[in-house]
Amino acid sequence: MAIYSEEMIQEVINSNDIVDVVSEYVQLKRAGRNYTGLCPFHREKTPSFVVSPDKQIYHCFGCGKGGNVLSFVMDIENLEFVDALQHLANRAGMELKAVDTGYIDRNKDLRERLYSINLEAANYWYTNLYKPTGKVALDYLYNRKLDDNTIKKFGLGYCNNATEMYNYLKSKGFTEEEILKSSLVEKKDTRYVDKFRDRLMFPIIDVRGRIIAFGGRVLNDSKPKYINSPESIIYSKARNLFGLNIAKKEKLDRILIVEGYMDTISLHQRKIPYVVASLGTALTEEQAKLLRKYSSNVVIGYDADGAGQAATLRGLDILTKAGCEVKVLQLDKDDVKDPDEYIIKYGSGRFENLVENAITLVEFKLQLLLKKYDINKIDEKIKFLNEMAVVLASITNEIERDVYVDNISKTTGIGKDPIYAEINKLKLKFTTDLKNVTDNRVLLNQKTIKKDETVIEKTEKYIIYLLLENNSDIYNQIKEKISLDYIQTEKFRNIIKKLFDYYETNNKVKDIVTIFSEEEDINIISSTICLDYNTKGVEKIVNDIYKTLKKNKLEKQKYEILNKLKEENTENKQELELELSKILIDLNKF
Ligand code: CTP
Ligand code: MN
Repeated sequence: MAIYSEEMIQEVINSNDIVDVVSEYVQLKRAGRNYTGLCPFHREKTPSFVVSPDKQIYHCFGCGKGGNVLSFVMDIENLEFVDALQHLANRAGMELKAVDTGYIDRNKDLRERLYSINLEAANYWYTNLYKPTGKVALDYLYNRKLDDNTIKKFGLGYCNNATEMYNYLKSKGFTEEEILKSSLVEKKDTRYVDKFRDRLMFPIIDVRGRIIAFGGRVLNDSKPKYINSPESIIYSKARNLFGLNIAKKEKLDRILIVEGYMDTISLHQRKIPYVVASLGTALTEEQAKLLRKYSSNVVIGYDADGAGQAATLRGLDILTKAGCEVKVLQLDKDDVKDPDEYIIKYGSGRFENLVENAITLVEFKLQLLLKKYDINKIDEKIKFLNEMAVVLASITNEIERDVYVDNISKTTGIGKDPIYAEINKLKLKFTTDLKNVTDNRVLLNQKTIKKDETVIEKTEKYIIYLLLENNSDIYNQIKEKISLDYIQTEKFRNIIKKLFDYYETNNKVKDIVTIFSEEEDINIISSTICLDYNTKGVEKIVNDIYKTLKKNKLEKQKYEILNKLKEENTENKQELELELSKILIDLNKF
């Protein structure tokens, strides 16, 4: 059987406008952005068949059929895929060219080729450092107190302020397609332009020793400070940690996780070998699981600024959930902002001390709350106690808890009794909450959740709708607020995941719906597209969507926990109660 390339299929689809093709079978009338008509696939008197010229897709709200121009022809002419393709090619006066089957294995090989390209580039950039043109970069590194050994160990390099990578890689035998897929070179009109220019280069290496991406830093204060390789078939930012390839060579009693390339490298040079970096993003679950394989003893050493503190809180949560024992590094000096500066100024010995004295979640939370609230004011003191009690109530070991209460009492001057009272109040609240939850009430509330489901589905579809705009700005706003686990409806979640992946790989196609091939997906997509939702003021829309989904998720979790707590002999009762209290506090915000 003949095999056609994605590009070929796409070209045929692009050459046949869906409105034209459908009009050969159905009388269409304009309705807003779309066209409507009587569905050709089922008998109906009022039109529920919609065609979207923007998205080049059709959907019938009566019988649920939907898809693109190709599936329309397959359905209406009752043709197999290849024959429908041929039909449309003829219609557009195109010649269908089949590909030779060697093509099939190319993706596997492509990965290997991309690793090779990255290795060639890294070597090239490394040798640049020791040429006259690279002196400025080498001096920069020396200035940052890194030595030749370290530079070599991490494979640092310098890319000239020139466009040269294309020809260099060509001379090493790589094809145009491979070079462009590596993202080291971009094609602008007919020119090939280097992505990284006049930057210090940091190879990102996976645990199997393959260079999967690069970060490039400017040599001065200009912006952006770093640019990084985009996600690709060999690079997933969320699944890798910078420096783990080197750290894992040691037997790791603990892992220190820092924010940046420079922190990692600087600490390694100064005999702190257990350091990795999460590369300036919030730590992900995948990264936490990866770490856990090497050591479950983790210290977070993020920057001392506000962003670093927020990232620390999230990191604590994710790492604890992944089963790690987590502590937080505290820089005991105000004149330095990150571990790199600290160790240069105060030395390895003092830095090791910091690691030894890293504080627990409870202590970290205490410090944050003390910064957040002025406990000399009565109303803020109450809030402080409220939030602190949630953390304290989570400590199962009573002796440990007493130590903390003692400590907090000493630091804040609040008596121990009010602190215990607050903890007990919280516990009492659980107990009454629990008593109130009879089977009926839980059932009732599950019914309300059921009723809300249509609202939820609509909201989830709204996300799909926005993502189908094929607009990275919209995607970025969505990604910032909404994670996949907020999406309840599995089939929608799958679609949204595919769309997220699509945006992350940065490989734009003209017609975004072509990334879907399963019939069920296509039906959902086409029904979504025909919905005519608003896309103006995306920020507010996304925020509303976020609130709806978040609240719903919390409600669900609440009833799940309440149901669990109702069972007799519930194990980890205390943990569940803590979860519950957090949820109740969050829910209060809605
Ligand atoms: N980062 C990024 N893009 C930026 C800024 C930061 O990808 N525009 C990532 C980099 O991985 C960087 C990390 O976030 O290493 C931490 O950022 P920052 O603390 O600013 O960088 P450092 O590595 O500490 O760099 P330096 O010490 O040279 O300022
Ligand atoms: Mn730094």
